[in-house]
Parts: sequence; structure tokens; C-alpha cells
Amino acid sequence: MRILVLHGPNLNLLGEREKAHYGSIRLSELNEQLSVCAKENGADVSTFQSNSEGVLVDRIQEARSSGIDAIVINAAAYTHTSIAIRDALLAVKIPAVEVHLSNIYRREKFRHHSLLADVVIAQVTGFGPQSYILGMLGIIKHLEEDLKRKGQTL
Ligand code: DQA
Repeated sequence: MRILVLHGPNLNLLGEREKAHYGSIRLSELNEQLSVCAKENGADVSTFQSNSEGVLVDRIQEARSSGIDAIVINAAAYTHTSIAIRDALLAVKIPAVEVHLSNIYRREKFRHHSLLADVVIAQVTGFGPQSYILGMLGIIKHLEEDLKRKGQTL
């Protein structure tokens, strides 16, 4: 099973940026935790960060041809603004889960609306780095159940 984890703008500054909201873990450490957890659960993870909306859209489009089974996405500020990322997820039809380090519903009003929420399987928000881990485990389980329903195995 191949999982793509996408990190949006400013998440390259994890560990330095607004620690009260995002904690002190660095992006490289988070990616390492995701890779270990994926391996333990029979999956393969690739991670990618970009500050650019178009580059994230390109990466979502490429996921289809590179055999990605599921996407875990923290689109960061683009969550609240990007019709392009929403459309890309709809176009590739790859099951996705939306994650956020902070609880977006406990913050400023403009963060309460996600343009991705109704095109993803689920949303995990507010558990810090564990949001990514829980989101990834959730989507792995979802894919396994889906295959079982169709009478196939991995
Ligand atoms: C975030 C929440 C967004 O509102 C914000 O713009 C981010 C990070 C989070 O992980 O909590 O950059 O997606």
C-alpha cells in the first residue's frame, strides 16, 4: 500500500513557527515518525512539502500515475482558500484524509471553513503530530476494509 503525505505552506518551518499552535517537532522528525509507522502497518510512505499551490496540485495529479493508494494532506492555509487543491483531489479520485496539527475549529473564524472537508474520507484536527499518524492509520484501515468488501487482499 502506497501513501503520499502532503504538507502545505509554512510547514517547512515546523519546530520554529508558532510553537503554541504547532509544537516543537520538526518536519523531518514528523516525516521519520510517519515512515516508521507506515512500515509497522505494512505501508510505504512518501512525504512532500511545498509552499506553492500549483506544485501541490501537480503532486496530487502525479499520484495517480505513480500508483499512490491514499493521500494524507495538511494543506495548511490552502485548506481555507484552494479550490485548485480541492479540484485536484476530486479529479484523481484517490481516497484522502485531511489533517491539521491544531484544532482549526478552536481558532480564528476564517480557519473554521475547509474547502477540502467534503471531498476527503475524514478529517483529523487538533492532535498535533498525532493527527498525521491517526489520519494515516485511519486511511490504511479504510483501504483494507474496502479491499475486503471487494473480496481482494493486499
Ligand atoms: C494548519 C492550520 C491552518 O489553519 C494553518 O494555516 C496552518 C496549519 C494546522 O496544521 O493546524 O498552516 O493546517
